[in-house]
Amino acid sequence: MQLGEVLRTATFRLTLAVVVAMIGTAALQFAVGYSQTKAFEFRRTDELLHREAALLAREQKQDLEHKISERATDDLRVVINQAALFDTAHRHIAGDLHTWPEGLVVDGHVHEVTVLPNEDAPYILRILAVPVAGDRVLVLGRGLHMIAEWRLMMRHSLLVSIVPTVLFALLCGIVLSHRALGRVGRMHEAIDRIMDGDLHERLPAGRQRDEMQRLAGSVNRMLDRLEHLMGEIRDVGNDIAHDLRTPLARVRARLDRAQAGTLSADDLRTVIARSIDDLDQCFSIITALLRIGEIENARRRVGFSVVDLNEIATDIVDLYEPIAETRQIRLAFHAASGPVPVHGDRDLLIEVLANLIDNALKFTDPGGDVTLATYPDGQGGARLEVADTGIGIMPEERQAVMNRFYRSDKSRNVPGSGLGLSLVSAILRLHNAQLTIANARRHDARPGALFGVAFPPSAPVAAPPA
Ligand SMILES: Nc1ncnc2c1ncn2[C@@H]1O[C@H](COP(=O)(O)OP(=O)(O)O)[C@@H](O)[C@H]1O
Ligand SMILES: [Mg+2]
Repeated sequence: MQLGEVLRTATFRLTLAVVVAMIGTAALQFAVGYSQTKAFEFRRTDELLHREAALLAREQKQDLEHKISERATDDLRVVINQAALFDTAHRHIAGDLHTWPEGLVVDGHVHEVTVLPNEDAPYILRILAVPVAGDRVLVLGRGLHMIAEWRLMMRHSLLVSIVPTVLFALLCGIVLSHRALGRVGRMHEAIDRIMDGDLHERLPAGRQRDEMQRLAGSVNRMLDRLEHLMGEIRDVGNDIAHDLRTPLARVRARLDRAQAGTLSADDLRTVIARSIDDLDQCFSIITALLRIGEIENARRRVGFSVVDLNEIATDIVDLYEPIAETRQIRLAFHAASGPVPVHGDRDLLIEVLANLIDNALKFTDPGGDVTLATYPDGQGGARLEVADTGIGIMPEERQAVMNRFYRSDKSRNVPGSGLGLSLVSAILRLHNAQLTIANARRHDARPGALFGVAFPPSAPVAAPPA
């Protein structure tokens, strides 16, 4: 891990932002403190100068000169830094200020002047000039060195406190960024392994306390789902191969026998007829798979219109009547009075009904009943039910029968490919219709199956998102 990488992490940038904010706050605090102290010191200085000037102005000429030249009062020694007497032409008479400060006016107001002493550094003086007895001018000044010292002191203490704090914050930033980078690095490694094809690999998600771990948890759940879906696809591939292999193997074995040339003409005809049946089964599997794919990929509902469910059901019942009769099953249709409109594709809905009735007839023993019923649901939608008195579907299998190639163990002896209900559910998804499976009656040995389809209101349905 390089330092450059660490410095580019979000954590480190956040640390930098905090450090800048810290320095900014300290500087602001210093500026505010300084300006307030300065204003206070100015006011105090000006008051002192005025008070002292008023006191000295009451003195006699000789006394004043003496006091100024000897600095004979406490105030003159401690509070006032500069004191002098000048005549009206600004010539020096007594005191330690030898030349008239430039810019000073005798107006009873305090002025600020910069004094340039011979050896020392220049300094700023608050200074006041007032006329006193004997045509003289009293000049009193007080330096602002206090503030300069205060500023120096504050700057020093600020540096002493801020530098270690900033260094500590930066160090924390680097350590935290280093840790974050380490975690991201481990995630990258896991992702690389997943991309290399190790689909069982998962991101280190820990106990999902922080946002990174929660994100990793979500990604892991997504990977679980993807792995499951890929497993399903692989299973479907295997199933297709398996389902095509059996009839094809039979065809091949028969043709082998026919090639040996020992079969009679009648036997040959039987071989051909059975082979055609087997090949038809292969074709029907392939056709059904292509059809499901086609319907699942359909984004648009071209050819959708309002169709009458009663009309379709009547057609289907007519079509399956002879088959039901051969199997000695009573096929009944309880039609709702009046049309039952749904918004959909007539041919696809015929496929749905044909598959449901075909299953019902297949899985019901002779002497049983298959009943078809339609109802308007009272809210603009419609309901279709196909019930039988057959072997039924156990609750734990009701989800699985919708999967491609799934066939219940009980139905192994009945011909079929296990694709019918997949086709039904693909078509119903396209129609936004809900399919439910239940027991048709309270009978343990022969519970029967009840397939219910709820269609949404027949006003045109919005296209599903692409
Ligand atoms: N009416 C029904 N009664 C009992 N089981 C059913 C019924 N319809 C479907 N099944 C079960 O669901 C499985 C899948 O049905 P389907 O997809 O139509 O395939 P197939 O009809 O080719 O077996 C069937 O094999 C059967 O086990
Ligand atoms: Mg079927």
